[in-house]
Amino acid sequence: MNLRVLLSYAAPYRGSLLVSTALMLLGSLAALAMPWLGGELAGVVLSHQESSLRFILLGLLALFAAQAVLQYSSSYILSRISERIVADLRIRIYEHLQALPLRFYQSRRRGEILSLITYEVGQLSAYISGTLPSIFPLLLTATGSVVLMFRIDASLTVLVAALIPIFYVILKLAGRRLRPLALKSQRAEATAVATAEENFNMLPVIKAFTREAYELQKYTGQIDDAMNLSIAQQRIYAALGPATQFLAAAAVVLVLWLASPGIDTGEMSPSDLVSFLLYAALLSRPVGALSGVYGQTQLTRGALQHFQSVIEERPEAVLAGGKALPDSRGAIEFRHIGFAYPGRPPALSDVSLTIRPGETVALTGENGSGKSTLIHLLSRLHEPDTGQILIDGIDIAGVSLHSLRSQIGVVPQHVLLANASVLDNIGFGRVGADQPSVENAARLAQAHDFIVSLPQGYETVIGDDGVRLSGGQRQRIALARALIKNPAILVLDEATAMFDPEGEQSFVEQCRKTFANRTVIIITHRPASLALADRTVKFDEGTIVDPI
Ligand SMILES: Nc1ncnc2c1ncn2[C@@H]1O[C@H](COP(=O)(O)OP(=O)(O)OP(=O)(O)O)[C@@H](O)[C@H]1O
Ligand SMILES: [Mg+2]
Repeated sequence: MNLRVLLSYAAPYRGSLLVSTALMLLGSLAALAMPWLGGELAGVVLSHQESSLRFILLGLLALFAAQAVLQYSSSYILSRISERIVADLRIRIYEHLQALPLRFYQSRRRGEILSLITYEVGQLSAYISGTLPSIFPLLLTATGSVVLMFRIDASLTVLVAALIPIFYVILKLAGRRLRPLALKSQRAEATAVATAEENFNMLPVIKAFTREAYELQKYTGQIDDAMNLSIAQQRIYAALGPATQFLAAAAVVLVLWLASPGIDTGEMSPSDLVSFLLYAALLSRPVGALSGVYGQTQLTRGALQHFQSVIEERPEAVLAGGKALPDSRGAIEFRHIGFAYPGRPPALSDVSLTIRPGETVALTGENGSGKSTLIHLLSRLHEPDTGQILIDGIDIAGVSLHSLRSQIGVVPQHVLLANASVLDNIGFGRVGADQPSVENAARLAQAHDFIVSLPQGYETVIGDDGVRLSGGQRQRIALARALIKNPAILVLDEATAMFDPEGEQSFVEQCRKTFANRTVIIITHRPASLALADRTVKFDEGTIVDPI
């Protein structure tokens, strides 16, 4: 495991981690004092020394009290650290995930990404705040017990210590079986979560195609897998406790067996014997717990690997860094653009297109001919493999994403809306947009009339991805959201595809004004919208075939 990386996550909490480790070390010392006092207690009970008895009992009480206080303070500090690490790592991975290019998301399941900010983050935090700080106190208890036992009776100690390797062999064997099980079980859980999440998104289609029984069966199979793996793990865990306990008990019997002749001859006092047995019992705890550390380390290793593999993914070019694109006049030039999605044939090859400021250009062409892809490249959602894109003569590859994207308003082909009010959805287009400007944009997008007839007007919440709206209404909201941005460059990717003819006609008429002094790229097949364009460019299989 890459301990350095893990420690770097713990670094901000170094101070608190050290304090709680120190408290736990004190707790270990208190625990080590108890068997000794226990032995003394046995001695005075056997010799009927009433006065010392009270003294020892008070001493024991004080030790118990000290342990309680130490345990409370260390576990309180540690649980606080744990929550903070979870919060830290969640924010950190979220920020990173948000900065990753779309390519990353197009190659992974969403459930897998969700498991990062829930399961993996929890695992890492539990290790840093639970397992790591406990290691030194456990080692202190274990070595302390052995040393003190050795002082009481060296040869018996060697005998008991000889049992420790047996403990370890058992635990190691169990660990070897547990680790792959744990990894598989985690993967099975993530798969089941991902399936449920995807199916709830697909529910209208599942219902329409009456696939409920099939999907249920698929999900049931995945849950069964997860359950069986979990049961297999629990079986090993369940066996571990009794096995170690039996070994400890066997050790006690063995010690009694071997020590009893010594007591008869007076070589070993009864109080030494009691102390010795109590130390042996104390020793079994850290030995068991250290094996838990081993298991946790294996589990955390997997989680850390996954976490790191995502953290090491390269984010998009820094949003705000880099040269700012000056306020654009809207001149766009695509120069010999070539682009292929990973593992696919080229989606665009040698595309060159020059658009003058204020011009309205329509792109047409068959499905899959590369129109939307060209638009993705303009916003740098993907980077071209070859060629350059220039805005006002400046290569956009060198400008900050923030300055680039803030000058381009896009109505994407696949409309995505937030589960929020209409007002918030349109206002999303411009930070701090007020109600009048939202209404103005809604009017331009032919959305105002239907919005005011909604039950709560602009305050109506539209559901996940706008499920409570019609397809055309969703498009109009997305259009308003792009218009309120008032960008120098406006891109409409099939933005009126679901408009009714009258709506489209009035949109087109209004657009002449809206479009007058900005550069507009419309991707459309509809004649009414095509009529808006100063010229039409036709795509075919990733190239321009018909520039006019
Ligand atoms: N994320 C992706 N990963 C891999 N291939 C993709 C991806 N998105 C699109 N493609 C492929 O790239 C090609 C161009 O797709 P694009 O979306 O640009 O077409 P389009 O001209 O916009 O089509 P439509 O008229 O259907 O919107 C298609 O062959 C498509 O299968
Ligand atoms: Mg498209």
